[in-house]
Amino acid sequence: MICSAPGKVIISGEHSVVYGKHALVTAVNLRCYSEVRKSTRVRISSELGETGLDFEVHPYVSWAVKLFEEKCGKTVTPDIRIRSEIPVASGLGSSAAVTVSTLAALGLEYGFKLSREEIFELAREVELKVQGRASGVDSFVSTFGGAWLMPEKEEFKFSAKMLVINSGESSVTSEMVARVAELRELYPGVVERIFEAMDSVTLEIKKALERGDNKALHFLFGANQCMLKAIGVSTFRIDGIIAELEKLGIPAKITGAGGGGSILGLIPESLRKPEKAESVDGKIERLGKCTVVTPEFEGVRQETGNGR
Ligand code: MEV
Repeated sequence: MICSAPGKVIISGEHSVVYGKHALVTAVNLRCYSEVRKSTRVRISSELGETGLDFEVHPYVSWAVKLFEEKCGKTVTPDIRIRSEIPVASGLGSSAAVTVSTLAALGLEYGFKLSREEIFELAREVELKVQGRASGVDSFVSTFGGAWLMPEKEEFKFSAKMLVINSGESSVTSEMVARVAELRELYPGVVERIFEAMDSVTLEIKKALERGDNKALHFLFGANQCMLKAIGVSTFRIDGIIAELEKLGIPAKITGAGGGGSILGLIPESLRKPEKAESVDGKIERLGKCTVVTPEFEGVRQETGNGR
């Protein structure tokens, strides 16, 4: 059985969402495919390597198998093959997408079909097992697709083209979440106020997106990025790339846990005109590997055929 689930970008609210603040997040048109076949021993193969149940190399898939076993009350020994269009450790939700697609495929292969709500709940548990702390936002958006204001789970209309630039530095979400938690313990008054300001910025970004206000988005993305820097999740390289994007008129900030990973730029309407885009394209490509992504409305799904 093959199932797939989309990656995501956090438009605003990473880290503060772990502490109950708002986040704006959308699924994107990059998917992870999990193929699950009944077998006699567990085998997991992906671009990370080939292992059995292995909580170091394949923590998300291994926990997905374990929690699926607990849920359905039987031992399973699947052969799981992962193919993903979502770069690993890049802030684009590859971990949630692999968890969600694997849980859905396990359910179908072993005749214990899980509802979307159950897939989301199990994927969130997997995130908590691996990361220690997690908002569940990645799992939610990967399961249901679409663009959402969280934690309300309020769907919002969003159609912008987004530019994702890989900083070339990989990052581990659990480490970044732990780093922010440590800072919050050391300076609760300071960090809590930053989270509150992030919360306001997120709500203002939603309004600015709805009215297509690029000037406001510049200010709000800039403010958001300053706060992400303040809580220690930016890097010199990321700061440099964002400064270059701003010079080109593209509001930009970290997306995801930071410490490396990806930078999100909103492509303004004015740059979508071919003559403008051409002059800007070359300059952007020099900054790092870049991908243009669009919102994806379909969440987890069963693939017909071989899904490849
Ligand atoms: C990671 O994509 C987003 C974080 O806010 C963690 C989480 O929400 O669980 C950094």
